[in-house]
Amino acid sequence: MVQADARRIHAPEAEHGVKNPYLIGAKVYLRPLEPEDAVPLSAWLNDPAVGEIMGIRRPSHEESARRFLAKSAKDPRQVGFGIALRRDDRLVGTTVLHHISHQRRSAALGVAVGAPAVRGRGVGTEAVRLLLGYAFETLNLNRVWLHVVASNEAARRVYANLGFVHEGTLREEAWSAGRYENVLVMGLLRGEWEARSGR
Ligand SMILES: CC(C)(COP(=O)(O)OP(=O)(O)OC[C@H]1O[C@@H](n2cnc3c(N)ncnc32)[C@H](O)[C@@H]1OP(=O)(O)O)[C@@H](O)C(=O)NCCC(=O)NCCS
Repeated sequence: MVQADARRIHAPEAEHGVKNPYLIGAKVYLRPLEPEDAVPLSAWLNDPAVGEIMGIRRPSHEESARRFLAKSAKDPRQVGFGIALRRDDRLVGTTVLHHISHQRRSAALGVAVGAPAVRGRGVGTEAVRLLLGYAFETLNLNRVWLHVVASNEAARRVYANLGFVHEGTLREEAWSAGRYENVLVMGLLRGEWEARSGR
């Protein structure tokens, strides 16, 4: 069943132990977010490392997280997924394409591994790799871009490892942990993705 690449699995009912998978990797799978995911999501959003990068600056509770999920699910310009561990089906984070433009064939990408104990184990990298496969191969996009705070070394590393290029710097664009920070614009083009994937 292991598929190293981003690929839709065609017979999810044949899989064991995975809950409603959409894209499956070696360690994780991406699945639709459900209303009950508001419970872990609200806890993650109260972690400034996650809430601040999503622009949420007020306490999150289950109901507000539920509204956030419902609103996101209806927005045609975004597609969000839960990141679940194949080992035990635990939801450990979210990853999303937003600002999808079919005219420009571009989208922005976001990712958060909400459970801090799970960070640094390759989960974020694999989830983003799966989402990029979906963006380029399923949605037929040409460019995926993102903003990352310059001091976020782990995120920068994930994106650079996957081939994102630093395209520019927005000076003092973010206010984070009591100080202004530069924000990097990073982008990945379809041709670059294909070259790296050997396609
Ligand atoms: C950023 C994030 C998604 C990465 O997910 P993850 O599962 O921890 O990432 P991975 O384990 O796949 O990879 C982390 C990489 O960063 C490196 N890294 C981790 N902490 C680091 C640090 N402080 N300095 C430099 N590199 C670091 C790891 O060594 C690894 O690189 P490698 O594969 O080349 O060894 C996760 O840390 C997270 O959710 N953080 C909070 C939310 C966030 O910042 N989201 C991104 C906003 S743009």
